[in-house]
Amino acid sequence: MRKQNPARKKNNNVLIGICGSIAAYKTCELVRELVRRDIRVKCVLTESAEKFITPLTLQTLSADRVYRSMFDEEYSYDPGHLSLAGWADVIVISPATANTIARIASGFADDLLTSVVLSAVCPVLICPAMNSNMWLNPVTQENVQTLIKRGYRFLGPEEGALACRENGIGRLVPTGKITGRIISILAGK
Ligand SMILES: Cc1cc2nc3c(=O)[nH]c(=O)nc-3n(C[C@H](O)[C@H](O)[C@H](O)COP(=O)(O)O)c2cc1C
Repeated sequence: MRKQNPARKKNNNVLIGICGSIAAYKTCELVRELVRRDIRVKCVLTESAEKFITPLTLQTLSADRVYRSMFDEEYSYDPGHLSLAGWADVIVISPATANTIARIASGFADDLLTSVVLSAVCPVLICPAMNSNMWLNPVTQENVQTLIKRGYRFLGPEEGALACRENGIGRLVPTGKITGRIISILAGK
């Protein structure tokens, strides 16, 4: 079980990790919903996520800079991954790809998002989105079970129409459900 610190004073700080999924555009709405509720949001993009969504959009919606690289010389003298992990009251990975789920389950820390997650002691909520075969593949299912045993929380995926023009499990859960879960985690539930 990973170390967690539920007693830490909460400031309504939500760090959103965005991965390279076609569902990445839905994160814009999530950021808006959270900001509308006076929740402070910082976004971390994987390199692949930038193929799907621009830092400019997220920076504008979150009213903060967007974090993209471990080796960011503009970002003060702190190691970015440690200060971001310390800042967050909850980390939400949405959409979470099969790749990032596998890398977190294996303890990778070779990009900013996985390094933040590895060093975080706050709750981590993972909202997967992917093709049904990727989700149902035993290796993904084992990775998910490993993470659940370690105390990571999952929301979704749901069944429905997928971007690959199939119907099945793999759809990102609706923004309202993710917002609701974040609020209940911030409330200590
Ligand atoms: C058009 C397109 C859509 C994709 N959508 C998904 C997706 O929804 N879920 C997923 O797990 N991978 C998806 N991928 C594959 C990921 O982008 C790929 O595995 C990438 O390495 C993920 O990197 P990241 O986990 O660092 O963001 C997609 C790839 C392409 C080209």
